[in-house]
Amino acid sequence: MVVDFESELEDLEKLGSDKLMKKEYVESEDQHENVLRPLRLEDFQGHGEMKENLRIFISAAKEREEALDHTFIVGPPGLGKTTLASIIANEMHSEIRMTSAPALDKPKDLAGILTNLNENTVFFIDEIHRLKPAIEEMLYIAMEDFEIDWVIGQGPAARTMRVPLPHFTLVGATTKAGSVSSPLASRFGINIHIDFYSDEELALIIKRSSGILGVKIDDDALLLLAHCSRGTPRIANRLLRRLRDYAFVLSDGVITKKTVEEGLRRLGIDENGLEKMDRSILRTIIEYYQGGPVGADTLSISVGEAVESLEDFYEPYLIQQGYLKRTPRGRCVTRKAYQLLGMEERIADQGLLF
Ligand SMILES: Nc1ncnc2c1ncn2[C@@H]1O[C@H](COP(=O)(O)OP(=O)(O)OP(=O)(O)O)[C@@H](O)[C@H]1O
Ligand SMILES: [Mg+2]
Repeated sequence: MVVDFESELEDLEKLGSDKLMKKEYVESEDQHENVLRPLRLEDFQGHGEMKENLRIFISAAKEREEALDHTFIVGPPGLGKTTLASIIANEMHSEIRMTSAPALDKPKDLAGILTNLNENTVFFIDEIHRLKPAIEEMLYIAMEDFEIDWVIGQGPAARTMRVPLPHFTLVGATTKAGSVSSPLASRFGINIHIDFYSDEELALIIKRSSGILGVKIDDDALLLLAHCSRGTPRIANRLLRRLRDYAFVLSDGVITKKTVEEGLRRLGIDENGLEKMDRSILRTIIEYYQGGPVGADTLSISVGEAVESLEDFYEPYLIQQGYLKRTPRGRCVTRKAYQLLGMEERIADQGLLF
């Protein structure tokens, strides 16, 4: 069989077209979020040590005129994974191409994208824990050898063609580090863990965002808002936009401490930054499951929230704040949760030992 390599490669090129590279994906992201997204490492607040390391790795790679090592970014939603991927590309003076693992259906989808990358391109795969096994395997060789094996033809006539790839940087992001296979995780040279932000770091983020949005915010309002933002920049920015609306109506366009208190009350957020759903999760565990343990599926049905958002969004902050514990038998509330809800009288009944 005569294999027409040229036309095979042309086919791959077509595959790398915009269908998977996510114009739609980028555009579907909150447009407001993009306005506030920092583009330079110095504007990325917090995580000082990580940033210092990253700065060194980036300058070394630039000095050597090489692509940055593949980078793995882990952390709960809204803490800056996508932002950091864009910053890496920007600081490397490279282009970025973004996709998300569920958008890659077949190995040829990935092959199409990879063969269309340029030298040093940052290739961002969001939700990388959701890659299909066949695609993941293709990625192993691509990451390690900058090649892919491409099968041409079918049956006995099938032949494998090795297609060389440009040296790219894979940036993989996930909220679920535990669901990423270890062969994949071990192929990343740089590992970044993004954790919740302190009130002070969030205050700096809100200050910068208020400047971009052109809204004035008092210092005590800034601190209160930072404290009620669940340690999460996306929430801080979202609340800031809502409070800007309230401020227009309630206090001459300036966000005061009173605007924040009133606004958060209207949004159902308490002085610890917890939402109605957070309180409902804790209350349900106490009222219906004697404080726990209760499994995630049961809990998700009880509170009427998808198990993914329960596990990825609500629980990490409740655990970090010490209201909830994950145990091998399920979720349990802590003493702090009873205190929060004013249900201390149940502690003894429910046999809480800690
Ligand atoms: N360190 C930071 N400094 C300043 N702003 C930040 C920082 N991290 C995140 N942000 C802001 O928060 C918003 C959300 O961040 P981003 O989209 O990067 O989160 P993510 O981790 O990718 O979330 P998801 O898991 O939902 O994809 C960004 O638009 C950006 O404005
Ligand atoms: Mg993201």
